[in-house]
Amino acid sequence: MSDLLSLVKGCTFDDFLFTPQFSVLERRDPSAIDLTSRFSQHITLKRPIVSANMDTVTRAEMAIAVAEEGGIGIIDRGFRSGEIDPQVREVQIVKRTQHGIINDPYTITADATLAEAAARMRRTGVGTLVVIDDQRRVQGVLTTRDLRFVDLAGTVASRMTPRERLVTHVGLPEPGMAEATMRAQKIKKLPLLHPDGTLLGLITAKDVMSQRQLPFATRDGHGRLRVGAAIGAKGDYLERAVELLKAEVDVIVIDIAHGHSVVMERAINAFRKRFGDIELVAGNVATAEGVRFLADRQVNGIKVGIGPGGGCTTRLNTNFGVPQVHALAECRAATDGRVPLIADGGVKRHGALVQALLFGGDSVMLGSALAGTTETPGEVVQKPVVVPESNKTVRVPFKVFRGMASLQAIVDRLDVEDADAADVEALGAEGMEISVPARGSVRPLLRDMFKHVCSAISYGGARSLGELQDAFRQDPERFVIRLTGSSRRESFDR
Ligand code: XMP
Repeated sequence: MSDLLSLVKGCTFDDFLFTPQFSVLERRDPSAIDLTSRFSQHITLKRPIVSANMDTVTRAEMAIAVAEEGGIGIIDRGFRSGEIDPQVREVQIVKRTQHGIINDPYTITADATLAEAAARMRRTGVGTLVVIDDQRRVQGVLTTRDLRFVDLAGTVASRMTPRERLVTHVGLPEPGMAEATMRAQKIKKLPLLHPDGTLLGLITAKDVMSQRQLPFATRDGHGRLRVGAAIGAKGDYLERAVELLKAEVDVIVIDIAHGHSVVMERAINAFRKRFGDIELVAGNVATAEGVRFLADRQVNGIKVGIGPGGGCTTRLNTNFGVPQVHALAECRAATDGRVPLIADGGVKRHGALVQALLFGGDSVMLGSALAGTTETPGEVVQKPVVVPESNKTVRVPFKVFRGMASLQAIVDRLDVEDADAADVEALGAEGMEISVPARGSVRPLLRDMFKHVCSAISYGGARSLGELQDAFRQDPERFVIRLTGSSRRESFDR
């Protein structure tokens, strides 16, 4: 490892290629190649991708897409200080989506008319109403099929499948159990009850099918998508954590620019004192001392990266930072797998993903690489662009991507629109705002990334990501080629 450290000192992604090895894979099929990796000590991902906690990258829509594709999204804390609810709402949206269990299914009472039931189904777009009494005890189930070819003046009671003929389940089922019950009992709806017979939730065959179509999705023990949320290390961070945990966020990320600091130490201590062993990721660090400092404080995952980010100007403005490959290799050597590392920042081309995963990352956090996709927050703005060939102006859709320490993001967070320019400048921005062309959904982009990681596994002579990482860590020199200026141009200038 010390040889690797001297080889990568001062280097980053575009400084290396890997030597192709004897390939043992017949096909580079992402659905058959294991890309499993740890995000943190208790959260495993089937796809090692994390969407960055940035206010132009990850809100609920992105977090849902990334979790459904096998990674995890971290909801940013870019809301104004004291405004905790908006971040909590994003977490709630993710936890209620694609969870397979409808927590608050639409209901109706048995004495309502079938016409009222039909109207409710039309209005809500659902095909099933759970029939309850005034204490929310389940009386039966009514579906669109029960309304066909009947006089809608009749009551719900006359057409529903009554309680005694219903198959129900008390409590939350284990993953897979609902599907087995539906298959065995030949039913399409499974109402879930509290022990006292009141309504807990509903599982439909449609939800079960949609789960099947997402075999890599990152889910919690109840089948709900997993999501993380970032907090700071000062101000409202503990109250924010309380509310996020009430919304059942899966992991809290204490995210500050310089995680090897007295501020971070205080924050971790206060967090652990208040919340015990809740899954906690902290960052960012980029040195052996920094990563050990966090690992020794019992965090469950560590974000590595000081200054490589696409929207980041820290290195320009302060001259501090560590080239990302150097940082990853050094942090890996210092922790030796004790705590999973999240390689955060600097990944632009897909080939850099596999570098981040081999040089030290267990997963890779992406910001700018996802910018401009449909699932990112923010408006699409049409901007005039001159086409060089014809010199004609066309209107092109753009979205904004910005560093979380950019002046614009700070201004939005602090509500300082009224401050005079000099005060705002004094905030010391370490990020920038840029416009990026709007593109389609993030899903095909992610799938392309996974395909390229699979191809890299094949070139690397392995059968899975874990196998490639093991081979690389046992003998990095077998893989690593340091590039010269001309070999870099030959490799990446296109
Ligand atoms: P990429 O390269 O994927 O990096 O866009 C995403 C990461 O960049 C970091 N980040 C910042 N760093 N000033 C910084 O120094 C900023 O304003 C800023 N905004 C984001 C962050 O770690 C993110 O995950």
